[in-house]
Amino acid sequence: MTQDELKALVALEALKYVHAGDLIGVGTGSTVNHFIKALGANPVLCKSLKGAVSSSVATTHLLQAIGLSVWEMDQVESLSIYIDGADEIDHNGFMVKGGGAALTREKIVASIAKEFICIADETKLVQTLGRFPLPVEVIPMAQVQLIRQFSQLGAQAVLRLKDGKPLVTDNGQHILDVTGLKIDRPLDFESLVNQWPGVVTVGVFAHQRAAKCLLATPGGVKTLIFNS
Ligand code: A5P
Repeated sequence: MTQDELKALVALEALKYVHAGDLIGVGTGSTVNHFIKALGANPVLCKSLKGAVSSSVATTHLLQAIGLSVWEMDQVESLSIYIDGADEIDHNGFMVKGGGAALTREKIVASIAKEFICIADETKLVQTLGRFPLPVEVIPMAQVQLIRQFSQLGAQAVLRLKDGKPLVTDNGQHILDVTGLKIDRPLDFESLVNQWPGVVTVGVFAHQRAAKCLLATPGGVKTLIFNS
């Protein structure tokens, strides 16, 4: 099976966690795109939902295209579930996210969900976070100083480009991608970097880790449940 077929498989499995009347949070990325497609292919379930809160402009367009009503964060107090992919997930449900540059809104939407369900293919499961370059959304004015701060940790941060220019997020900010990190204490690391001036959001999701991970393997989808 290709990685894309694994993503489609796990996206279909995630529909089992969606129920009539639910207001769901929806993440961003290619795995989530498969989830939205699968939901759209199930009109009975799709029409039965109250709606969704979206984590990016791209996801909003896809949700609207399948006829789901998209709610703003300030209209909603809580969500039954939040469904999203990850760039890495470890055996405690701690994740690295932001490969699609949507990490800030993803963290905001996930914060009001009762349960974070991560949908991923088996290549995303790691022993220790840090293999995937860590995305950090930053205020442009602070980016050079933040590159220096990461270098003091022995890591290398580079500004993410798109078409030769700094990528601009949905929030009008920039992304640093940081390599050379071994994040063996994700909770502490997330707290540390989040309080550096100019950091909008660090792509470690530890304080808001996944409750479950649906993990696609060629032998089928495994469900990992993390202790609370
Ligand atoms: C988007 O900003 C990310 O957090 C994605 O959830 C993550 O990059 C996973 O993406 P894929 O589903 O495309 O692998």
